[in-house]
Amino acid sequence: MKNGYTLKNRRILLGVTGSIAAFKVAAWVSTMVQEGGLVSVMMTNSATRFVSSLTFAALTSDTVYSDMFGEGQGEAMAHIHLPRAADVLLIAPATAHTLARLAHGMADDLLSTAVLASSVPVIICPAMNSQMLENPATQRNMTMLKELGHHVVEPGSGMLACGEKGSGRLPEWDEVREELLAVFSEKDLTGQKVLISAGPTREPIDPARYLSNRSSGKMGYALARVARRRGAQVTLVSGPVRLAPPPGVRLINVLTAREMQEAVSAHAASSSIIIKAAAVADFRPKNSSSEKIKKSESGLSLELTVNPDILAGLGRDRKKHQILVGFAAESNNHKAEGLRKLKDKNVDLMVVNDILGEKTGFDVETNQVTLISREHIEQLPLMSKEETAGGILDKVASLLQ
Ligand code: PMT
Repeated sequence: MKNGYTLKNRRILLGVTGSIAAFKVAAWVSTMVQEGGLVSVMMTNSATRFVSSLTFAALTSDTVYSDMFGEGQGEAMAHIHLPRAADVLLIAPATAHTLARLAHGMADDLLSTAVLASSVPVIICPAMNSQMLENPATQRNMTMLKELGHHVVEPGSGMLACGEKGSGRLPEWDEVREELLAVFSEKDLTGQKVLISAGPTREPIDPARYLSNRSSGKMGYALARVARRRGAQVTLVSGPVRLAPPPGVRLINVLTAREMQEAVSAHAASSSIIIKAAAVADFRPKNSSSEKIKKSESGLSLELTVNPDILAGLGRDRKKHQILVGFAAESNNHKAEGLRKLKDKNVDLMVVNDILGEKTGFDVETNQVTLISREHIEQLPLMSKEETAGGILDKVASLLQ
């Protein structure tokens, strides 16, 4: 199983070209190195006009390669040696000129020759003025690069270095990191439409107060990231959380259990895999007040009414060949409760996690889950929530067979 959870020990050959965005890529190198990535840097001559090669040499504690015939580098045939020693090529920022050269298989400098000589995945991050990006010639080159099998990360929009607002902005690092991790992930979920719910729900008491729970969304967001790296088309229905939207995932934000039910129901029929990691409130105040309830010395009693059980509804209306996965947040009787919910809610897999453990359950980076399917029970070790997500998706992939 490829390990698509970290850049640690991954050999990344970075090609930097002559865009002002090169200074942002220097920050990326620092982040990759801190994560344990093994980064080698090539620069075009024009790139060195924007950022000194000394910067990248210092960040990588390695030689920076720029000249195909560089005498002093003692690395003859660098254009062959460098890509052969890499797991992935990352061309960032990629100028319009570099897009054109790579699209046409040019080999007029070290960077373009290394790309031509490489047999590992190539990720390309264009960055330029909006007009240049939207020029049909540039658009055609980007299309050609995708047809060659390269991963072209769409530029972002916003304030550009030339002072204009528009498209052509270098993508954010988090998005590029997901592309890198996807390269190191099995594509066993390609073609699957995965619907994931995550986070808490908020049940209003009055305009100022609500009932909620300790879910941070980390488990569900980890499932969304890992599923997308493995090729799935992911829709994430999320309660209110403090997490960045996972790149490449369709995100639908909701607040109450009933809003979550509506959003999940809207996408359930078209999904081949549904994973309910959200902590949906079982109850809501029977009557939420439209005005702030005044404090009174005699205290306050809340009458609660039952919220719809979304998972049970999915189990009732499930489609053939759909894989339905529920979570069970338990504090005791974990397996018995998991088995009961598996049967009661007509799901294919229950993921049981202990919410009393210090390193499991709500709002922690790790989890330890028990996977209960009709055939057997499997205990996963304590792992990061992304690795736990990987273990859950391994089980889902086997159920798909
Ligand atoms: O978000 P984190 O901070 O990372 O924490 C992760 C988690 C602990 C929230 C997650 O791992 C988890 O256990 N999620 C399920 C929490 C929960 O509601 O468990 P439950 O046993 O109460 O519900 C059982 C299943 O029914 C769950 O799949 C839940 O989504 C679903 N449910 C529950 C109530 C309801 N009204 N509708 C539902 O669909």
